[in-house]
Amino acid sequence: MVDDFSKRRVKSGIPGFDDLIGGGFPEESTVLITGSTGTGKTTFVAQYIYKGAEEHGEPGVLVTLEERAKDIRREMAQFGWNFKKYEKEGLIAIVDGVSAISGIPSEERFVLEDRINVDNFLRYIYRVVKAINAKRLAIDSIPSIAFRLQNEGDIRGVLLKLNTILLEMGVTTLLTTEAPDPKAGRISRYGIEEYISRGVVILDLQEKNIELKRYLLIRKMRGTKHSMRKYPFEITDRGVVVYPSGEIY
Ligand SMILES: Nc1ncnc2c1ncn2[C@@H]1O[C@H](COP(=O)(O)OP(=O)(O)OP(=O)(O)O)[C@@H](O)[C@H]1O
Ligand SMILES: [Mg+2]
Repeated sequence: MVDDFSKRRVKSGIPGFDDLIGGGFPEESTVLITGSTGTGKTTFVAQYIYKGAEEHGEPGVLVTLEERAKDIRREMAQFGWNFKKYEKEGLIAIVDGVSAISGIPSEERFVLEDRINVDNFLRYIYRVVKAINAKRLAIDSIPSIAFRLQNEGDIRGVLLKLNTILLEMGVTTLLTTEAPDPKAGRISRYGIEEYISRGVVILDLQEKNIELKRYLLIRKMRGTKHSMRKYPFEITDRGVVVYPSGEIY
């Protein structure tokens, strides 16, 4: 992989975040968004896809393997985001990887079949990316791919294949995963996600004066100067907002 400092940057769509990483995600890279439950991973990646379309006219694909597409649209509408509008314009495609397993008939345009065959899964994502000429891709989440494999151990092979396909497609990708214990250095569920990712962003909660506060840490961003401090962020009624000059944790 070429670590090129001059690579074009892809705007995250998260206020306050791009300044921390030299203007945005390096183009055509894969970045892992990791954190425990409820830390804001889904909101972060949905915002990346939505704002890409709304603010930059860049087509994006959101693959949702934990929540149905219609639940995502409803939840994200609380932040004032109208996914349907951009789906109709062909700027956003949501791939529903949940409805089929639950056996409920789906009215979605892009639905993953219930039994994931790895090659079909990857081929399907490839097709949807090409169909809307996507520049952005988000997959929520890696563990939910693994749970649906017959042998969870196969996830390594899947991630390596996924990596190859992502490089070929030329998209800038966010992957979500779980961090079992970021403080102990375990920042991903399978311990391999970070190796296929050029960057790792940890979302976490920390107790402060009997209140849980959100913060994020850029753990790695190859080819980019970034600080290793923790930055406070909030989930507001407009989505994720980072405070680069906020109080240092
Ligand atoms: N409209 C809103 N305004 C403010 N905060 C919200 C709003 N909606 C959700 N939240 C906060 O966001 C959190 C969930 O964020 P999100 O679903 O993105 O997290 P996640 O890391 O994907 O969680 P999971 O592990 O369940 O997938 C909620 O627990 C809540 O604290
Ligand atoms: Mg989630």
